[in-house]
Amino acid sequence: MSTAKHVAIIMDGNGRWAKQRGLPRAMGHKRGVEAVRALVRAVARLDLDCLTLYAFSSENWKRPEDEVDDLMNLMRRFIKSDLPEFIANDVRLKIIGDWQGLAPDIVKMLEDALEQTAGGSRTLAVALNYGSQQEIARAAAKAAAIGDVTTASIAAHLDTNDLPQLDLLIRTSGEVRLSNFLLWQAAYAEMLFVDTLWPDFTPEHLEQALRDFAQRERRYGGR
Ligand code: FPP
Repeated sequence: MSTAKHVAIIMDGNGRWAKQRGLPRAMGHKRGVEAVRALVRAVARLDLDCLTLYAFSSENWKRPEDEVDDLMNLMRRFIKSDLPEFIANDVRLKIIGDWQGLAPDIVKMLEDALEQTAGGSRTLAVALNYGSQQEIARAAAKAAAIGDVTTASIAAHLDTNDLPQLDLLIRTSGEVRLSNFLLWQAAYAEMLFVDTLWPDFTPEHLEQALRDFAQRERRYGGR
């Protein structure tokens, strides 16, 4: 039996959650942040080394401007309000993706948060302006620049190079696709697709997912 130490989640279904209730999409995202907060609080209890969340993809810029603004504002508020809690709970913040391309005030906020949480023993990795193919291309270019295009060298240049091996990838809301998330890192990860919409996803759902994971047998291509 193995335990999952690194779990990544594609948080999907905020819009549908809101629609089902006749609420604006923004409310779905707001409740989505509350689901994030509850999960981050459970990381130590669930004994995870790393929780990686897909918060904003490089393709999400295609959404209407007011929705992009909503998501960015939620991010600002989340970092501001929850940073003291990260520090108190020994959580290290990590950002993956092309986050330097976000609004300058967010970049500054994130830089401060990264610095202040650098000593944390458990990691919350947030994917922002993230696209896995772009990440792999960046890493491959760096590997090529040093004349060492091997899987080990590419992996060493990915944004995730200091994170543990990905054990379990979860997507909520019933969609069954990876949407350009952690394509390289998921090579041997277990996948779990659940129907729950993201705002309804609780630490108990994650606990159940970890129990399911423990029952699975991973062979990494062996037998
Ligand atoms: C998918 O729901 C969700 C997103 C595009 C954004 C996820 C963001 C959050 C949960 C909030 C911000 C995160 C942090 C860490 C502060 P959707 O809008 O695609 O839902 P739908 O498919 O039902 O329309």
